[in-house]
Amino acid sequence: MSELNLVLLGPPGSGKGTQGERLQEELRLPYYATGDILRAAVRDETDLGKTAKSYMDRGDLVPDDVIVDVIGARIDSDEAADGFILDGFPRTVPQAEALADKLSELGRRLTAVLLIDADDDEVMRRLGGRRTCVDSGHVFHVDFNPAEREGVCDVDGSELVVRDDDKPDVIRHRLGQYHEKTEPLIEFYDHQSLLRRIDGGAAPDAVADELRRTLATLKLEADEAI
Ligand code: AP5
Repeated sequence: MSELNLVLLGPPGSGKGTQGERLQEELRLPYYATGDILRAAVRDETDLGKTAKSYMDRGDLVPDDVIVDVIGARIDSDEAADGFILDGFPRTVPQAEALADKLSELGRRLTAVLLIDADDDEVMRRLGGRRTCVDSGHVFHVDFNPAEREGVCDVDGSELVVRDDDKPDVIRHRLGQYHEKTEPLIEFYDHQSLLRRIDGGAAPDAVADELRRTLATLKLEADEAI
């Protein structure tokens, strides 16, 4: 396969960030997580961050035009020439259409959309116990994936905090936004035969194994098509 252009799709808390970090290391591809990009912009008080903050605090999606430009520039960069992993983008049909336009302008196309699914009860359990590294967004869970030292990131030693949008009422609102605005992308990509379903309700290592098997199958299919 010449390039690997992947999208991670799924509800909040399904494990996109957890698996995205692993995939980034294994595939050695740039990993663009829009939530991390926006949180860094909020922290640095950039214009993007100032626009995004109130939407994110409420659990609403930021406007499509704000995020489309952010991702378009990254896909068009030299580091993404061999492929990329997108996490959290696209999240609406207009965003998916903008992504397709951008890729077609560059003479490229998506390789696959990996749907990591989990039900609402599991999402509530996971996000209620999530702890996130303030500097780089590494994720832990107090029960399912605890840090070795409580409150300290295993990877870079930064402080672990509860995200502002991981409060129960905001989590419920984010889930509502997912069902209303992002879930239609499942059919959108299924129609294009790009969708691959992964059971995100399994343990993290089992999810990673299923992702590896799916990517191996994609590679076989691509090689056979040559
Ligand atoms: P974003 O940061 O993308 O949030 P999200 O999609 O809601 O996803 P999460 O980060 O909450 O969950 P995840 O699936 O990555 O799960 P994780 O691996 O952490 O977006 C935040 C906000 O930014 C949005 O609300 C919006 O305002 C804005 N935004 C971002 N992109 C946008 C866009 N394109 N358009 C408009 N607005 C946008 O795992 C969760 C927890 O579970 C962790 O504690 C983890 O340790 C644990 N865990 C993971 N996997 C497992 C497992 N298999 N078993 C048990 N526990 C597990």
